[in-house]
Amino acid sequence: MFFVSPHYRCSLVIAATLTLILGTACGFASEGKERGNIHITHGPVLQQPQRNEITVTWHTSKPALCEVRYGEGDTLNKRAVASSLGLIPNDSTCHAVRLTGLTPGTTVRYQLISKAMRNFHNPYVPVFGKTVESEIFTYRHLDPEKKKFSFVMWNDIHDDCERLEAMFKDVDWKDIDFVIMNGDIVNDFKSDEQFFNAFYDACARQFGSSIPLVYVRGNHETRGAWARRFFDYVPGVSGRSYYAFTHGGVYFLALDSGEDKPDDHNEYAGMVDFVRFRDEETAWLLDELKSEAWKKVPYKVVISHQPCATSEEDWFGEQEIRRLWRGPLNEIGTQLWLCGHTHRFSWCRPGENGDNRFHLMTNPTDGTVRVDVSPEAMEVTVIRKGGEILHKESIVP
Ligand SMILES: [Fe+2]
Repeated sequence: MFFVSPHYRCSLVIAATLTLILGTACGFASEGKERGNIHITHGPVLQQPQRNEITVTWHTSKPALCEVRYGEGDTLNKRAVASSLGLIPNDSTCHAVRLTGLTPGTTVRYQLISKAMRNFHNPYVPVFGKTVESEIFTYRHLDPEKKKFSFVMWNDIHDDCERLEAMFKDVDWKDIDFVIMNGDIVNDFKSDEQFFNAFYDACARQFGSSIPLVYVRGNHETRGAWARRFFDYVPGVSGRSYYAFTHGGVYFLALDSGEDKPDDHNEYAGMVDFVRFRDEETAWLLDELKSEAWKKVPYKVVISHQPCATSEEDWFGEQEIRRLWRGPLNEIGTQLWLCGHTHRFSWCRPGENGDNRFHLMTNPTDGTVRVDVSPEAMEVTVIRKGGEILHKESIVP
């Protein structure tokens, strides 16, 4: 270890700056020939809202140093960055910035700032490219006190974005406060283009900048060469892929049901550890339920990709969900448990599977679930692609 005096370091910086100027003039700085200005290629899509927080995600044509300017009034008086261990990322085109300190129910305005990062001439002289500033977007933050609202859910899209966009047309978007993607939207995560084409770009076009997305991982987002990068694209909450939030008198639990077969199944080649994952998640769940946030509102809704098993014939994953979660979720008086995974419609009412107090539904691949919530009831409508009503259910508090 040796000491570099501030004076000498300053000289280094001056020398490097001169090198940069001369180098640029000679055409060899950085990649030398930066092609085109930086621009936003995908997004924004708002994700994983909490009481006072939300994540803004977007992607750029070049690696960039990013921030979000935002505010609840006329000015964008706050600034957020995605720092980790004190460092702001500068080497990625995939951006996720958490906005904090938000007031429930307020209108939030935000703008994305992305400064292209080209390279370093030396550790003290970064070389930036152009900066792109987005338009100013607006959305309304979730509000536990809201009296009436609606949300929609899709699942098991399996890369078929055409089907998803057709189902977008079956929705009257006027009162939709958030959208749930309940797993297996991406069919084995193999590349970022696949992610964009499967649903992300369609969501950005339809609602992404103004209506939050709640993404719940399925058992196909856990597969493929890019599965371990999934949370760069769909960041969770506090490092978790499962979380709770409250809106409009409903306490939501978004749970990650993991893989559907035992960890030692040949299909996973010894690369998964979901038994332990679900144990950790269950410990979090039991702790979360101690907070009693669920007691303050009339409705409790659970979202998980795989359903709770209702038969001994059901697969391992569903049996595990039953073993771990059915008891506590029954105990708190969950009224509705929304699932996918089976690719077929099913509805199990309270008492139809032993002592279950909740309605348990699985939505097919071509179904839109719409839930309209008011103090009087949760009205659930399942709409088959094209508009046919497949099922209606009224659930009172
Ligand atoms: Fe699935």
